Amino acid sequence: MTRSRISSRWILASVPLFAAAVLIGARTAKSGRVAVPTPPDTSAMALIARGRQGVLSHGCGGCHGGLDDPSSAGWLAGKMTDDQVFAVGACNVVHPDAKPCFKTYPRNLTPDNETGLGRFTERQIFNALRYGLRPEATPDVDITSMTPGQGNFPAHPRYLAPPMPWPDWRHMDDADLWAIAAYLKRAVKPVHNRVMESEGPPDFWASAYAKLAGPYPPKPFPTENERVPDQNGAAPNHRRGIGDGASTNNEVWPHCLVAT
Ligand code: HEC
Repeated sequence: MTRSRISSRWILASVPLFAAAVLIGARTAKSGRVAVPTPPDTSAMALIARGRQGVLSHGCGGCHGGLDDPSSAGWLAGKMTDDQVFAVGACNVVHPDAKPCFKTYPRNLTPDNETGLGRFTERQIFNALRYGLRPEATPDVDITSMTPGQGNFPAHPRYLAPPMPWPDWRHMDDADLWAIAAYLKRAVKPVHNRVMESEGPPDFWASAYAKLAGPYPPKPFPTENERVPDQNGAAPNHRRGIGDGASTNNEVWPHCLVAT
């Protein structure tokens, strides 16, 4: 069965349950003296833990496989079953037979050298998440501009197809994106699973997203829908509530519970 809309599985907020456990075992040398254990590379471990949390909290497995369970079969291995196929276009909105209709396929994010991210560098993965640039069609360079043809932004970019949510993911900060790239490349076991090419011309994807996605970087704060908190960090003229250190439950709960 084809999924007609973005699956609610990945929209559902997932609670990251990750806790990193670093086990340091004391080794006994042949001489009988206890050797000083080699400390684990905590910076690398922290990077991987951060990347894993980024993957779990952004529901990557909801489309790329395994939902939010790294122990499940097919974790991030890309499209394996028909319910991982997306139909994009009029067939999704008007009628299943309406045109245009493009099938898109979540790709293999495991580091397999032939069918997965093993073919790409961490910088190419970073560029995919920040700029939506398809790794296999984009050189391994630092992107220095947001305009095609300027800086290192490809003159004819090939963007990742919907519903890959790179217009959202690109707002993660640099460190989170690098951590996700590191987790995918270094800490996931490779799975050999060739995913077919998504359909649809690249300029279609770019224009579809240009209409839906906001600008990057976003407009500076505050926009017309936002407001600057007062100097204590509270909303201007707000009724003080839980969390600002100046309320009691009595003040807040009746207000919350009674519809006004
Ligand atoms: C709503 C579904 C969905 C979610 C959620 C999603 N992706 Fe994707 N992703 C896709 C689809 C579909 C493609 C294939 C796009 C194409 O073929 O152009 C893709 C492609 C990619 C690619 C390109 C891989 C390649 O070989 O070209 C990367 C990298 C990627 N996704 C990473 C992620 C990461 C990391 C997350 C979570 C932070 C994520 N995706 C979440 C649907 C999704």
